[in-house]
Amino acid sequence: AAPVRYEAESATISQGATESNHTGFSGTGFVNYTNVVGSYVEFTVNAPAAGPAALALGFANGTSGNRPLNISVNGVSAADLDFQPTGAWTTWSAMNTTVTLKAGSNTIRASAGTAEGGPNLDYIDV
Ligand code: GCU
Ligand code: CA
Repeated sequence: AAPVRYEAESATISQGATESNHTGFSGTGFVNYTNVVGSYVEFTVNAPAAGPAALALGFANGTSGNRPLNISVNGVSAADLDFQPTGAWTTWSAMNTTVTLKAGSNTIRASAGTAEGGPNLDYIDV
């Protein structure tokens, strides 16, 4: 099936803010993670069937260092991803991975792995 887009600015945000000052985002803005370990954005996504699902995360990282995020699905750690520099906060990219979902409602949480916080997060496509 075609992916469904879930905007970060519509997700549950812990220690972060919806902003729109860096252009090029999808929807009405993006989430600026507070630069602390454990700040997160959590999405509730629906899966038609149990099994692997492609996950794309739209992001920007205007710094010169990686911004790691831990991805957990339904409370269980699923991946650690390094979001590399995109060159500017207005340059957006997508990180692709695969997660295993159950049928129905799932939570996908993307938590900052370092004290620098996450990259700016625009959306996920599932
Ligand atoms: C800047 C930028 C933010 C970003 C932050 C960071 O303040 O404007 O969008 O989130 O750097 O380094 O995390
Ligand atoms: Ca930030």
